[in-house]
Order: sequence, then C-alpha cells, then structure tokens
Amino acid sequence: MFGRIDHIGVAVEDLDEAVSLYSERLGMPVQHRETVEQQGVEAVLLGVGENHVELLRPLSPETAVGRFLERNGPGMHHVAYGTDDIDSALEQARAAGLALIDDRPRAGIRGSRVAFVHPKSTGGVLTELVEAAEGH
Ligand code: CO
Repeated sequence: MFGRIDHIGVAVEDLDEAVSLYSERLGMPVQHRETVEQQGVEAVLLGVGENHVELLRPLSPETAVGRFLERNGPGMHHVAYGTDDIDSALEQARAAGLALIDDRPRAGIRGSRVAFVHPKSTGGVLTELVEAAEGH
C-alpha cells in the first residue's frame, strides 16, 4: 500500500518566514510553490534527499489546515506516503478497515493525486497517500 515516505506536511502561519527557516537556516532547496484551492492551502515543497517537506499555509481559517492551526498552533500536520497506484492503495486501505477521509483521490500539489486517511484509524497521525504526476 505504501511505497515510500513522500513528504512531511507542516502547518505554518507565516509561509515566507517558514520558507526562510527551512531554506536558509535548514538548507533545504525550495522546489515548488503552489496554491491548491481544493485543499485550501498555499504550499511550498522543499527537497530533502529524495523526499520533501511540504509547508502549508491555510487560505482561510475555515479550511482543514486553518482549523488545525486554531486547535494546535503551527507544527507537524501529516505524513504522506508515495504510491505508484493510488486507486489500488486506497482500495487496500479500505479493505484494511482504515477510515478514509477521501473515498476517491483528489487533486494535490504539482499535478499529483492524493487521498487522506483519518488519524483516528492511524494512531493519531493524519496520513496522506500520494501518486506523483509523471516525471515527479
Ligand atoms: Co501533503
């Protein structure tokens, strides 16, 4: 079901400040910046080895990440696992009895397809499945 860790999602209040922390002080190169309306976020991907840190700023307080920030403040938001076939990974997650937030994949950053699994069925960790677009 899970091929590899793709990225760690981090919720932030100030995206530019977080980008300068991760890129300048932690030395991770910025690879991509995009507003993903469907997830209610502006996101930045930074490279770390073959994997990424995904910084997430909510577009409004009513989004999922906005509510997360309200409850918890900035910090770790989710872990994303890469898969080559998200439809079959989602089917396996369903068969394993995991509580799916997304019944079917939706549009993610950089042309990817993503689906989230509820933290209540994954030990308190919001879990994302991601199938990268061709070439990423
Ligand atoms: Co993510």
